[in-house]
Amino acid sequence: MGDPAGDPFDLGLEGKVAIVTGGGSRGEGIGNGRAAAILLARAGARVLVADLDLAAAEQTVALAAEEGGEAAACSVDVTQEEQCEAMVRAALDRWGRLDVLDNNVGIGSQGSVVEETRESWERVLTINLTSMMLVSRHAIPAMVKSGGGAIVNIASIAAMRPRGLTAYSTSKGAIISLTRALAVDHGPSGIRVNCVAPGPAYTPMVEAWGLSDEARERRRKASVIDIEGTGWDVGNAVVFLASERARWITGQTLVVDGGVTLLARDRRTSGELEGPIDRAAQG
Ligand SMILES: NC(=O)c1ccc[n+]([C@@H]2O[C@H](COP(=O)([O-])OP(=O)(O)OC[C@H]3O[C@@H](n4cnc5c(N)ncnc54)[C@H](O)[C@@H]3O)[C@@H](O)[C@H]2O)c1
Repeated sequence: MGDPAGDPFDLGLEGKVAIVTGGGSRGEGIGNGRAAAILLARAGARVLVADLDLAAAEQTVALAAEEGGEAAACSVDVTQEEQCEAMVRAALDRWGRLDVLDNNVGIGSQGSVVEETRESWERVLTINLTSMMLVSRHAIPAMVKSGGGAIVNIASIAAMRPRGLTAYSTSKGAIISLTRALAVDHGPSGIRVNCVAPGPAYTPMVEAWGLSDEARERRRKASVIDIEGTGWDVGNAVVFLASERARWITGQTLVVDGGVTLLARDRRTSGELEGPIDRAAQG
């Protein structure tokens, strides 16, 4: 464990083994999972990049390798328990231990419960939430055998600021509760569990929506610091929470949104959605 005061430049991730689910990204872009995988490898971890899209995972591995990082790709559907188990086994077979899990897979949804079909509601909850239970269920015993570990679950500010994506918001809110419960259940076994709740970062998923320049600019302006977030911003938060520098942090949700959630309806204008920032551009 080393010096508890810690060298701020030593993340304590050298030689550790990490799994990043959803670690691929569309095309050449940098999604949240791809960024986390590259940054974990940069910090000296050996990274299993797992994704439904094997070619995308391989692309992430190639990007990590270009920098001298050690990573391997793995095809997985995290909604299938036997595939989650095989993914954990692949990390153990290759590197003999498991220390870090970034539960990053997530898909969006649209509409209220009135508009949503039960089928699509269940699909969103299965992919976003149940998958984290299935992966954690197999990763935790492997981490315990390795002497402990850190899990980072990816939620969203949509959990705190719902905006008409109700299945998505519900799944992300439940991820925050799951994080807290896992932290309590497995803390005594040396496992820390935290959550990152990203705001409107510009990732390949968002690019694929085909946002107009104007809509992209509105998303940027939702930040109180006028900065457009990227996958790297989310990835850096994951690395910190996974690192030894966060050894006394567990059960927490780190909001990474450039301050988007600091703003509420403007009380000076009777609660109208007016003022310097267009709230429709959030998330
Ligand atoms: N981009 C944002 O603005 C934003 C904001 C808040 C939260 N998030 C969250 O961040 C996470 C990553 O988002 P992103 O923008 O990088 O998206 P992304 O679509 O680029 O990445 C998600 C990856 O998950 C993979 N995937 C999907 N279903 C899978 C399954 N069943 N099994 C294995 N892999 C699967 C996809 O192939 C893809 O590579 C998600 O949980 C998302 O909800 C993103």
